[in-house]
Amino acid sequence: MLGAAATRRPPKYESVLARSETLQFSMNSDVLTGALLRTLARAKPGGSFLELGTGCGLGTCWLLDGMSTGSRLISADIDPRAQAIAREELEPDARLTFVLGDGGEFLERSETRFDLIYADAWPGKYTHLEHALALLKHGGMYVIDDML
Ligand SMILES: C[S@@+](CC[C@H](N)C(=O)[O-])C[C@H]1O[C@@H](n2cnc3c(N)ncnc32)[C@H](O)[C@@H]1O
Repeated sequence: MLGAAATRRPPKYESVLARSETLQFSMNSDVLTGALLRTLARAKPGGSFLELGTGCGLGTCWLLDGMSTGSRLISADIDPRAQAIAREELEPDARLTFVLGDGGEFLERSETRFDLIYADAWPGKYTHLEHALALLKHGGMYVIDDML
């Protein structure tokens, strides 16, 4: 059983969640997934991270909360309305870069390799899986959920 500290919500969590509800966005990562993402991000100080499917930025919050100051996160989504919430809430964080566009196209052209890929959209999970795995560094981590 996880203690309270493990599921302490990251900064911006509550405001991102509230704004996602006004958009009736129903695909936010849940708390246990977020807590896992934060823990994994902590395991890669100075790491390079990729999130496919920003949504409104809830998973992004958790990743940022685990990342060291020298880490970098790219988060891509094809939906400008959802990603706008994440941009407005989180963009001041210089470790974070948003990409608005198709995740599959991003994977096809990326020359960056990653310590962790959170594939939370169809591209990188149900399509372009080989592209995503090829972009992982040695010892990199590939994380997916919503497989049921
Ligand atoms: C499960 S939600 C992401 C939730 C978010 N990662 C979180 O932690 O709260 C899936 C997202 O994938 C996006 N998406 C769907 N098709 C996509 C595509 N082809 N390329 C990029 N993003 C896509 C959707 O717009 C949606 O915001």
